[in-house]
Amino acid sequence: MRAICPGSFDPVTHGHLDIIERASQMFSEVVVAVGRNSAKNYLFTPDERAAMLTDATSGLANVRVELLDGLLVDFCRDRDIDVIVKGLRFASDFEFELQMAQMNFALSGIETIMLPTAAKWAHLSSTMIREVAKLGGDVAQFVTPEVAQRIRAKTSPPTEGGSA
Ligand code: PNS
Repeated sequence: MRAICPGSFDPVTHGHLDIIERASQMFSEVVVAVGRNSAKNYLFTPDERAAMLTDATSGLANVRVELLDGLLVDFCRDRDIDVIVKGLRFASDFEFELQMAQMNFALSGIETIMLPTAAKWAHLSSTMIREVAKLGGDVAQFVTPEVAQRIRAKTSPPTEGGSA
């Protein structure tokens, strides 16, 4: 069976990677789809988010990364994807995910399965990581070294005397 892990991944965290890895053990193929949530302001471009995911999932042979434009259900139909996999951290995640799962099911009949996030990563959110990083905090423990490096490059103030 082919599964999809859709999300914004701005940036990918250890919590996302835990879900992707577990999905890769449950399904023969996993597509990680980098999408757009119109309610969000992003730090990284879709290409940057996909590049970070490709690097972070390079050890998982049955996982590939794609950009998602348009409706998730259309993307799934075009690629014969059978199931949507989402991670759940706490009750408020469930409320939103349930609504999306029901909408996607109504539109296309595709099923969504929700995996509980590993307790270790339950507190993680990309939004919070962006906030901490922008205010000068160290987020290295929450992401891969490559992602931490990219966050630093995006959020550190320009050095004095540096050119634009
Ligand atoms: O990480 P996020 O922000 O929770 O990811 C949300 C995402 C990108 C998976 C969701 O917004 C999505 O599926 N977007 C694609 C457009 C779509 O199909 N929207 C209707 C969803 S019911």
